[in-house]
Amino acid sequence: MFIEKIIEEMKEVFKEIPLGIEHTLKVLKNAEDIMEGEKIQEEKELIRIVAILHDIGAVEALKKYGSIDGVYQEKEGPAVARRILEKAGYNKNVDRICFIIGNHHTPSKIDGIDFQIQWEADLLENLTVMDKQKQQQEIKKCIEENFKTATGREIAYKRFILP
Ligand SMILES: [Fe+2]
Repeated sequence: MFIEKIIEEMKEVFKEIPLGIEHTLKVLKNAEDIMEGEKIQEEKELIRIVAILHDIGAVEALKKYGSIDGVYQEKEGPAVARRILEKAGYNKNVDRICFIIGNHHTPSKIDGIDFQIQWEADLLENLTVMDKQKQQQEIKKCIEENFKTATGREIAYKRFILP
């Protein structure tokens, strides 16, 4: 299967950064959960692949710029993703996949449910750095501003908003 092959390639790229693999697999799980709740069918494969490859530019960014900042990841990600997809023999929606990867830290570029789900799935992990006890207001604001799917919002509230 394509998905397994692409996951293997992602692990190979991140072999020196196990945190990258861990984060990616968590984002993939979040995306799966959101897709299930939102009854996504058609875009499922595309969204899975985007989740698996969204941070794939990090290693190249680190090598070239000594930084894994969002802008550098966005810059380097699409070419690495393209190479992996080619190697896996995958040729569906490659431009769309690369567009989302190349803009995945830029919410103003969100232009579809596929991109939106990736954004929410990633944000569910990125929110874990906030202090749940001390930053409830900020977290709530962030959820309200960023989560557009009912399922994503529900997961975010369950995980980060204290009862
Ligand atoms: Fe990420």
